[in-house]
Amino acid sequence: MPDTTAARGRFLTIEGPDGAGKSLQAARLVDELRARGIDALLSREPGGTRLGEAIRTILLTRDGPPIHPRADALLFNAARAQHVDEVILPALDAGRVPVVARFFDSTLAYQGYGRGVSLDDLRAVIRVATGGLVPDRTILLDLSPETGLRRKQPDEETRFEAAFDLDFHRRVRTGFLELAAAEPGRYRIVDAEQSADAVFADVLRHALEALEA
Ligand code: TYD
Repeated sequence: MPDTTAARGRFLTIEGPDGAGKSLQAARLVDELRARGIDALLSREPGGTRLGEAIRTILLTRDGPPIHPRADALLFNAARAQHVDEVILPALDAGRVPVVARFFDSTLAYQGYGRGVSLDDLRAVIRVATGGLVPDRTILLDLSPETGLRRKQPDEETRFEAAFDLDFHRRVRTGFLELAAAEPGRYRIVDAEQSADAVFADVLRHALEALEA
């Protein structure tokens, strides 16, 4: 029997352009929350489940098949649907705090602003994938694409870094900033050009504020 008396957890996402340091900051945040006795859980998109990791390999490998923008959107969202049902909702129902590097805002920024799929179409696909689940807090690590791409080693590059030009990455950044401006209640913006420690201090502050709300 599910414990219906348990409080529902809070859902935190970390977003931002490539090279912003999301994985590092998400991992540090989970460690710090756990040290404070909060039952946090680290995950990422695309991925987080066996199916999601398999889709991730198809999507991010540099020598994979060409992927048209709508196919891209559907594949990311197929991985997302599995992630929501298998990992995120059960964690929230158990009162846990999933901290996820990338969620649907990445689809709007990359496939929408970046690759030109209509935002309305994407929102419809996202609605199917998430069942309407929206993060309680989204922390945007903002930095210029020049800095972000410079931080990546060539062997860490995904299809997005290897095959899309600087203009694409500029549109992605602008997209994230527009999404954040449209939802100031959910979003917090952190300057990711700062040192990793300074970024983390901001990330932790915003996360704790969301957990106390
Ligand atoms: P990843 O290695 O996780 O990037 P980073 O370490 O910068 O977070 O690769 C994820 C890539 O997939 C990244 O380039 C963004 C892209 N992406 C989308 O285009 N749409 C999406 O919905 C998601 C979740 C990711």
